[in-house]
Amino acid sequence: MEIIIQPDSRRASTVAAKIVADLVREKPHAVLGFATGKTPLETYRVLIQMHRRDGLDFGQVTAFNLDEYVGLPPGHPGSYHSYMREHLFRHINISGGRINIPDGRAADIPTCCLDYEERIHAAGGIDVQILGIGTDGHLGFNEPTSSLASRTRIKTLTAETRRENAELFGGEDKVPHHVITMGLGTIMDCRICLLLAFGKKKAKAVAAAVEGPLTAMVPASVLQLHPRAILVLDEDAASLLKRADYYKWVYENKPDWQKY
Ligand code: PGA
Repeated sequence: MEIIIQPDSRRASTVAAKIVADLVREKPHAVLGFATGKTPLETYRVLIQMHRRDGLDFGQVTAFNLDEYVGLPPGHPGSYHSYMREHLFRHINISGGRINIPDGRAADIPTCCLDYEERIHAAGGIDVQILGIGTDGHLGFNEPTSSLASRTRIKTLTAETRRENAELFGGEDKVPHHVITMGLGTIMDCRICLLLAFGKKKAKAVAAAVEGPLTAMVPASVLQLHPRAILVLDEDAASLLKRADYYKWVYENKPDWQKY
């Protein structure tokens, strides 16, 4: 795991956006994995700015999203189809035909999940997957006790996650119970896992994922087994890490050619 601690979420988001942008410049037909939620918003703003100002070209990029609520039409304001359109896709030159988000309204969910896995495979696998972390340690919507080897499938949200996501739905009772999410095994197949976490509220989950035991009770701890997991944190999210000073020293003293 590489732990990058930045003074605030704005600077952390710039670091994350640069990792994605460098990859897209190097490999114009890159396959990018996107996440939703509050955390990646600033990273998406920086990517949009890079597209507008520096001509960062998403024309050949393929996108896969981590998850979607079951039962929501793509136009619902709480859906992740809406989120991605609103916060990223409509602002960049990504081709509509290369955007993949699980279909929350599929009549046959198991087949839809298998098809999603096959589409990822056919695209050559995901080069970099952007990830958030839940206060309960979830990764994607893989809630505690998710199999560390799981693939894309239907999951039931915890009460904690439904509470955290209530804002867009105008009340906790309106948040769907079920989601389709890439599994932890699906995420582990991505070439780079880029996890972002900001704010004190994430500190406990981050510390458990990074410095705690590998356990299905903290799904994000599976990243301890990933050969290229990069965690970009602000000071608050890093505040419970016992070895924060070491991680900072490592990052600040990286040879220039290795820096993001
Ligand atoms: P958040 O969600 O970015 O809105 O905090 C992260 C997550 O639940 O994975």
